[in-house]
Amino acid sequence: MIQFEQVTKTYDLGNPQKKALSAISLEITAKECFGIVGPSGSGKSTLLRLINQLETPDTGHLMLDDEDVSRLSAKEQRLKRQSIGMIFQQFNLLNNKTVYDNVALPLKLQGKIKQKRVMEIMDFVNIDNLANQYPQQLSGGQKQRVAIARALSFDPRILLCDEPTSALDEQHTEEIIKLLKEVHQHFHTTMVIVSHEFSVIRHLCTRAAILEEGQLLDVIPVSPTEPTVFDSYYHRALESLN
Ligand SMILES: Nc1ncnc2c1ncn2[C@@H]1O[C@H](COP(=O)(O)OP(=O)(O)OP(=O)(O)O)[C@@H](O)[C@H]1O
Ligand SMILES: [Mg+2]
Repeated sequence: MIQFEQVTKTYDLGNPQKKALSAISLEITAKECFGIVGPSGSGKSTLLRLINQLETPDTGHLMLDDEDVSRLSAKEQRLKRQSIGMIFQQFNLLNNKTVYDNVALPLKLQGKIKQKRVMEIMDFVNIDNLANQYPQQLSGGQKQRVAIARALSFDPRILLCDEPTSALDEQHTEEIIKLLKEVHQHFHTTMVIVSHEFSVIRHLCTRAAILEEGQLLDVIPVSPTEPTVFDSYYHRALESLN
């Protein structure tokens, strides 16, 4: 479970009067797929960065599995971070490394490289045929698959997704939504998904938080919808435009 208790965050280099997040209290249940929506600058990415401890709250508490993160030892905090995966809009892959090396990187950094695990996860996200390619050779959808494989390689309990489809066209967006759904079902991961595309949240999440100017306005249930799958780009264009 992820709990924010009265969390406030102001950036040192930002306007001191302007809080990136104001007194946020929020509970995300274990294994839930939770959405976060809000206009640009409303604090969505800051919320994610607090969960994976790239930022710390100014006041208030972040609890992970009922433990206050600020009270953990450095080693315990590192272990918590190692149970959290993250994917980004711009994929954040290393261009000078092959697909295999990108996926294997977190395990390598943790000193736990397991070739079998890397191959299994590449197979799961359907990029096993791309192992020796470099990121520049891939489409956006393939790059995001690599990033998802990299985030899953160390079997995270929480997967944070910051605008995971915003750099993709509709076809690749649907494929990534489908993959994230499979990830959620197969790995039972708690997922927190930030997106300005409401359709992404509707296809994936059961609840969503609405943020505006650093304030949590509401947490609402989401009515699920299935994405329409088209046979081809031609059929998508025909259906959408005609
Ligand atoms: N490193 C930083 N230094 C200073 N101010 C920052 C920093 N990161 C974010 N901010 C400010 O904090 C506020 C919230 O930013 P955040 O990136 O969390 O918003 P967001 O909802 O993710 O926006 P977007 O949809 O554009 O990604 C904004 O006013 C932003 O300018
Ligand atoms: Mg953001």
